[in-house]
Amino acid sequence: MLRNNRSLTSWSPRGCVVVPTMGALHAGHAALIAMGVHEARARGTRCVVTVFVNPTQFNDPSDLAAYPRTLDADAAWCARTGADAVFAPSPEDVYPPGQPIPTPALPTVATEPGLEDAFRPGHFAGVCQVVLRLFRLCEPSAAVFGEKDWQQLQVVHAMAAAEMPGVEILPCPTVREADGLAMSSRNARLSEPDRAQARSLSAALRAAGQVASVRAAESAMARVLSDAGVRAEYAVVRDAATLEPLGDGRAPGRALIAAWAGGVRLIDNAPWAGA
Ligand code: PAF
Repeated sequence: MLRNNRSLTSWSPRGCVVVPTMGALHAGHAALIAMGVHEARARGTRCVVTVFVNPTQFNDPSDLAAYPRTLDADAAWCARTGADAVFAPSPEDVYPPGQPIPTPALPTVATEPGLEDAFRPGHFAGVCQVVLRLFRLCEPSAAVFGEKDWQQLQVVHAMAAAEMPGVEILPCPTVREADGLAMSSRNARLSEPDRAQARSLSAALRAAGQVASVRAAESAMARVLSDAGVRAEYAVVRDAATLEPLGDGRAPGRALIAAWAGGVRLIDNAPWAGA
């Protein structure tokens, strides 16, 4: 497996399948990489995992500072999962000083009121900027993104369609712990009591799936989260593709949650069809 911290110029990745990550890889990422490897083999190309903690998508400097950096362990995960290359550039490689980096137009799904943009302003501008930059550096034919960040998946899909329509966006289902908690690099920061609270996110999504109306689903989620002592930023049902508010009877829907378990911000989502 090629491990390259600076560039992929010694080995043209053109046409590869790319799996963009910020590192701190866990079993959830292994599913993304396994999908990337499988897809690369099917296309007769190679799978490149990018590991880059992108400063431009953090609106909270302490969140950026606390983000775990575990490159050696990440490279071992990638090798075990069959990836062909790890591309772990420095901030200067991605954003060369003095060189303007194009920032793609922000798709409307990025700023849908009440969701991520309301709580992490500028986050998706940073995500779009780095994803486009990584796409330009790797020239992939396809890229794998997790469904756990459902809004990010829709944003990247729209951005790629506008900026690099040759790159197919492949969604990978969320991997969960045995207790239902969606796998995330942030889970490592949960204390034991936080972890009990964190379980309420998937419980809330299950509760939403058992009621027929949007309003009842949103109330059910709010109840489960507040009973667990979790502070929710949003717990809503939206149109799965546009993330606009969903009128009853319209489908497919997606139930989406962002909430704080102790000092850790978590997100989760699930399909919602009404009972
Ligand atoms: O989902 C992530 O880990 C990041 O937002 C991504 C897509 C790698 C861009 O930095």
